[in-house]
Amino acid sequence: MMKIVSPSDPRIPLGVAHYYRNAQAYEDQKNPGNPLPDFFCKAARQAIRPTETVFDMGCGAGLAGEMLVKAGHRGLRIANDVSLDMIAHSLAKGYYSEAYHCNAIRAVEELKLVGGIDWAVALSMSGYLDSEDLKELLYRLYETCRRGVIMSFEALTPEQITASMVPVYPHTYDEVVATLPKGWKVETMAGVRGIAVLLCLSRKT
Ligand SMILES: C[S@@+](CC[C@H](N)C(=O)[O-])C[C@H]1O[C@@H](n2cnc3c(N)ncnc32)[C@H](O)[C@@H]1O
Repeated sequence: MMKIVSPSDPRIPLGVAHYYRNAQAYEDQKNPGNPLPDFFCKAARQAIRPTETVFDMGCGAGLAGEMLVKAGHRGLRIANDVSLDMIAHSLAKGYYSEAYHCNAIRAVEELKLVGGIDWAVALSMSGYLDSEDLKELLYRLYETCRRGVIMSFEALTPEQITASMVPVYPHTYDEVVATLPKGWKVETMAGVRGIAVLLCLSRKT
């Protein structure tokens, strides 16, 4: 039985939810030559044990869920997005068994209350968080994830930023590392051909 949790969330970024309201259109626009999914699949296979729990923040149409299945993951996968259409779409594909419909920060707070998770992952969603929210998310993830985090940070050009219909925030590697709670260490950091940086974080102890 699939479950969708919608905790009341005053910080849900409605502009972004509206922008991503059509999951099928989003999926149809995807660039098949994007190397990020394969980089993520490889990192997930190396870091995440098959039965560990994984929380996918900003799941969109379910790309990270699909890559986790490809990497041999068979544990609990929980989806999250501010767009209900994205959640419905990715749940229907069977990549996740439950979902949180709210801001990722709110979802991580909620997951802490129900006992935490092993891993959190996020592909192409960090650009929708301003610096303050990114810092808070990384802090909450440290409180909630028993094992680690795999997140991509996109290299956005000024043109892409100007052309976007919703606010986007490019985050540099130095900014992210300076923001990390002290107990995290950067396990691997892979540059995806000028497109993104994939950061794999784990606990120091
Ligand atoms: C560029 S899409 C990426 C989707 C998917 N991860 C992928 O790689 O194909 C960004 C997704 O993040 C979601 N999103 C943006 N900000 C969010 C937030 N603060 N909390 C949860 N989801 C968010 C959007 O609704 C959208 O579905």
